Amino acid sequence: MIDIDTVPLQIALGSHLPEPDESIARMITSGRSSLAFLLGDEACRYRLLAGAINWDRVLIAYRDRTPLGYAAFKHHRRGPFSPGAGPFLREFGRLRGALRYLLFAIIEGREWYYGFYLYGLHVIKHARHQGIARSLMAAIFDQARQAGHDRVALEVQVKNQRARRLYEQLGFSRVRATPVNWLGRLLPFPAVINMRRSLTSQP
Ligand SMILES: CC(C)(COP(=O)(O)OP(=O)(O)OC[C@H]1O[C@@H](n2cnc3c(N)ncnc32)[C@H](O)[C@@H]1OP(=O)(O)O)[C@@H](O)C(=O)NCCC(=O)NCCS
Repeated sequence: MIDIDTVPLQIALGSHLPEPDESIARMITSGRSSLAFLLGDEACRYRLLAGAINWDRVLIAYRDRTPLGYAAFKHHRRGPFSPGAGPFLREFGRLRGALRYLLFAIIEGREWYYGFYLYGLHVIKHARHQGIARSLMAAIFDQARQAGHDRVALEVQVKNQRARRLYEQLGFSRVRATPVNWLGRLLPFPAVINMRRSLTSQP
């Protein structure tokens, strides 16, 4: 039997994996919990988004084919999800579905502001504190450079101390709230901090 902790960590774009399976899709769609008021619980988010994953916008960390975490990103207006209205209408009915879809599109659209944007980062519980998030972030920096960007932006919830510490250690610094933060006054978003890291100068 293989001791999985001794197998080297691998990181690949979802689009480079032979066939990303359902467990990876479930892991990726479990993110965006801050939008639960709009997208429902984990099972609902899976139904809405799993059929519309842009696998070239998701980095998967795995050992011995076991997925352990992911980092999703967005640039050039393409992020990890491009759902159509159909699943929203099926899930919530015509009127509510259309309204939720519209709000989701507005929320997604606000990210044009950021250039290269870290959309999501997650490591499964039993694999934490092994440097997997750091490795995923190093791969994110490579993706951003390859796409011609000189910085990476992100939003992190104020209360997420662990993630904030990780980003600070990786050289991200807090930036003034962006003009798009007005959305947070209209919708039940948790409070977030905007952070940014240059890729041209070392922290
Ligand atoms: C935040 C999160 C992604 C961090 O993932 P992780 O893989 O545990 O992160 P790392 O292992 O790279 O670093 C975390 C800690 O482990 C430590 N660490 C890294 N490698 C280690 C190793 N080999 N041995 C012991 N500790 C190690 C790091 O120094 C760091 O310590 P600190 O928290 O005291 O500063 C993870 O907790 C998570 O998925 N949380 C839920 C989702 C979330 O909050 N995402 C962020 C959204 S903005």
